[in-house]
Parts: sequence; C-alpha cells; structure tokens
Amino acid sequence: MSARTLLVVGSGPGIGRAVTTLFASKRYTNVVLVARRAESLAAEKAAIEHAVGPQVNVRTYAVDITDLAALGKALDDADAAIGKPECVFFNAARVLPSAFFEHDVKEIEYDLKITVSALYVLAQRYIPHLVSLAKAGADPDSEHSSSAKPGFLVTSSALPLEPIPQLFALSLVKAAQRNLVQSLHMAYAPEGVHVGVINVAGAVSPDDLERNPANIAARAWDWFEGLRGFEVVI
Ligand SMILES: NC(=O)c1ccc[n+]([C@@H]2O[C@H](COP(=O)([O-])OP(=O)(O)OC[C@H]3O[C@@H](n4cnc5c(N)ncnc54)[C@H](OP(=O)(O)O)[C@@H]3O)[C@@H](O)[C@H]2O)c1
Repeated sequence: MSARTLLVVGSGPGIGRAVTTLFASKRYTNVVLVARRAESLAAEKAAIEHAVGPQVNVRTYAVDITDLAALGKALDDADAAIGKPECVFFNAARVLPSAFFEHDVKEIEYDLKITVSALYVLAQRYIPHLVSLAKAGADPDSEHSSSAKPGFLVTSSALPLEPIPQLFALSLVKAAQRNLVQSLHMAYAPEGVHVGVINVAGAVSPDDLERNPANIAARAWDWFEGLRGFEVVI
C-alpha cells in the first residue's frame, strides 16, 4: 500500500495545526502544508513533527493561493515528490473587518479568490483522483482495496447562514464557498468521496469548552472517520 498523504491548504497555528496533527497521527504518513509565510510554515512543520513523531514526513510550500499559477506549480512538485493526496483539507481564509462602504471591491475579489477560486482549482485537480481512489477501494484486486478514505474537507463557519454586517465580505465569500462545497458533495459523495464542511459556528478560543482547536479537531476526525454527511457543526 502506498503512503497516505494529507494536503492542508491554509496551514496555521489554530484550527489548521490541531486538525493536521490529529489527522496525521490517525492516518497520514505524508503531510503537505501550504500557506503564504515561510517562517510560519517552518513553525507548523516543527509543531506537527513534534506532536506526531518521526513517522510523519512534512513538506511545506510558501504560496499565496490567490496566485493560481504558483499554487499549481507547488502542487505539481508535491504530487511528483510524494503522490497525490488521499485527503484535501482546505482551511485558508482572511478574517478582516469590512465596513459598509469603506471596503474596496478589490478586497472582496481577493477574498473570493482565496475561498472560492483556489478551492475550485483544487477540486478540479484532485476530485477525479479521489473518485478513482474510491472506485479502487471497491475493487478487491486493487492495491487500495477497502483502504482508501478519499476526503475533501473545508473549514466553514456560521457566516453563510448568519452574516455579520461588520464582516459582510467574509460572510458573502463563505456563503459562496459553502454553496460550492454543497454542489461538490451532491455530485461526488455518491461516488465515494467524503466532501463536506467543518462548520465552526462561532469564535475559536483555547478557553472555550467546545470551540477550542483540540476539540474542533477531535469532532472533525470523528465525523470524517464515521462518514457522517455533509457537515459537522461545532
Ligand atoms: N478563528 C476563528 O475564530 C474561526 C471561527 C470560525 C471559522 N473559522 C475558519 O477557520 C479557518 C482558519 O482557522 P484559524 O482561524 O484557526 O486559522 P489557522 O488554522 O491558524 O490558519 C489559517 C492559515 O491560512 C493561511 N492563509 C490565509 N490566507 C491565505 C492565502 N491567501 N494563501 C495561503 N494561505 C493563506 C494563513 O497563513 P499565512 O498568513 O502564512 O498565509 C493562516 O495562518 C478559516 O476558514 C476560518 O474562516 C475560524
């Protein structure tokens, strides 16, 4: 059986690190981390290696995912080095206040590129591969037989259904993103790919009993492992 890879787009010290660490400790030998800042990626790589242990192999790519050419180049490199992912975890977003009507339309377009354009390009690139993993999993003669667990998971929030006017830009791009993931779920869950959202329905804090990164990761893993539908709400 080939080594399993988790691709994390939007690696950071909060939800990103907690989900990546738990998922890697449960299932993945290879982890690919994408975020803009090289120094922050180095810290994430060290934290994940420390938490998971020497069995995990972490590669990092410092890319702004709104630069689709740079994103494609990084993923070409990762795919060639360790193979395509069995699970894609999309976690990138920019949390920035947006006031009516000081907020420039270019800022909305930038947020749409993060949350929708980059996500669509990732789906275009990897969902056909995830479908083939699912089909091979059902084939008793395949090396992936009953072992593959193809996933395409996206961190979302309550904003799509409950927008906040002071965060109207993030609210609207998250709504568009959720809608895209719902369409992908409708089309590809029947093909055996677990497509869905980790709906973190409020502010995250280490002190919050529910919405702390470790609990969010634990709930997300239980949901993913149990293949329990389109979303988990935390
Ligand atoms: N934190 C909360 O209270 C909360 C609540 C509900 C939902 N959420 C959702 O949870 C997700 C993030 O979780 P988090 O807040 O805990 O953050 P996190 O996991 O600590 O980090 C997310 C990372 O995404 C990266 N990123 C942002 N824009 C990017 C871009 N253009 N290209 C590449 N990488 C990019 C950032 O790294 P770089 O700066 O290095 O690029 C950032 O560190 C988001 O989808 C957010 O909407 C968060």
